[in-house]
Amino acid sequence: MNILAEELNRTLSDSVAYGFLSPIGRRMYFPKGIVAQSDEAKEKAKKYNATVGLATKNGAPFYLEDIYSMFREGSLKPAQIFSYAPGGGDKELRALWKEHMVAKNPSLAGKRTSLPLVTGGLTHAISMAAQLFAAPGDAIVCPDLFWDNYDLIFRDLIGAEPVLFPFYGADGGFNIEGMKKALLSVEGDHARIILNFPNNPTGYSPTKEEAKRIVDAVVSVADAGKKVLVLSDDAYFGLFFEDDTETESLFSFFADAHENIFAIKGDAATKEEMVWGFRVGFLTYASKGFTDAHIDALTKKTLGMIRCTVSNCDRPGQSLIVEAMKNGAHYDEDKAAIFSEMKKRYSIVRKAVEKHSGEGVLTPYAFNSGYFMAFDTHGRDAEELRTYLLDKYQIGVINIMGRTLRLAYCSVEPEGLEEVVDTVYKAAGELWS
Ligand SMILES: Cc1ncc(COP(=O)(O)O)c(C=O)c1O
Repeated sequence: MNILAEELNRTLSDSVAYGFLSPIGRRMYFPKGIVAQSDEAKEKAKKYNATVGLATKNGAPFYLEDIYSMFREGSLKPAQIFSYAPGGGDKELRALWKEHMVAKNPSLAGKRTSLPLVTGGLTHAISMAAQLFAAPGDAIVCPDLFWDNYDLIFRDLIGAEPVLFPFYGADGGFNIEGMKKALLSVEGDHARIILNFPNNPTGYSPTKEEAKRIVDAVVSVADAGKKVLVLSDDAYFGLFFEDDTETESLFSFFADAHENIFAIKGDAATKEEMVWGFRVGFLTYASKGFTDAHIDALTKKTLGMIRCTVSNCDRPGQSLIVEAMKNGAHYDEDKAAIFSEMKKRYSIVRKAVEKHSGEGVLTPYAFNSGYFMAFDTHGRDAEELRTYLLDKYQIGVINIMGRTLRLAYCSVEPEGLEEVVDTVYKAAGELWS
């Protein structure tokens, strides 16, 4: 094993994170290679800097005029578009993201967390966390309605074993008892769980009271001596449409909940800043027992993962997000307007679904947030309904695991939403009643 990896492992050995490291996680380190040497040269090589594979003239990168001319004159400098971004991301963006994270999650104020590391979108953040902290055969607890990419990442890439529990409990809310039972059922003294709220595909987020009980349940598992890694996938953070919904990420509470809890937050500019194609995500770590040295070691291991997967992330995207967050004249106003449009669509869908309540073929799952709502098809083939809707009514929806039909109301104009919902019910009736 590389001596730098050994050093990081020694630093982490008295932290909760250590026992979660996979063999990849143990081997990972940030090399003192080209990147570190060129960083050093940036400071000291005042005469000639012949370190980086980036073609420059007069200190700025070369570029194609056809590309640069697409940017408004005087907006971004060539270096903000064409240069490599630092491995962990633009420093200003990382600081801004953290500042906004604390503003949006007041419970995080004063809590020790890492500085968010920039990733190539949230998928990359989750995939790296999976590779660092889960190994073949490790159990990964997850509610049974989840983003389908988890299967590819945890089961197929890592070889971990999903431990699923029913998403909804008997009261129709999040199944906290089921979650706790699933965590306790994991053999050994380490359990891993991924929680995604607002959820894809259901569009459900816990109420304030449920959020508290979720945290209490995980703390009780930690109290019993199990170490628990909680990965919060906050892809749709902020899209909360009901007053009783918890508006803070569970990460805010897990961050200092217990020495046995290792909290990881995966989030992204993707949906929070409406920049789906930019590929800018973030990974942040916290635990009650972490020291600065632990956080530094985890950061270095993650920098190593970034280096060996994408090397560094999208530069123009990061620069544009920094400009908007820092200097945007319409930033808050635009975000508020888009939130209000999503809430309007949510309300239309809610009403349309309520109109059909009691029609037995489909049952909408409880939803209150995010971009989606989904129907339980009660064991009937959701793929059959999906293709029927597509062929007969030219309406596209998603079949989730053959038993759930997901409707992304975020991508349909308000005027069409009632018709979409009505047609889904009509089609299900035609097929199945
Ligand atoms: C629940 C969930 N997590 C993560 C992601 C991935 O986000 P990104 O596009 O930033 O990789 C998505 C995207 O659809 C998602 O629905």
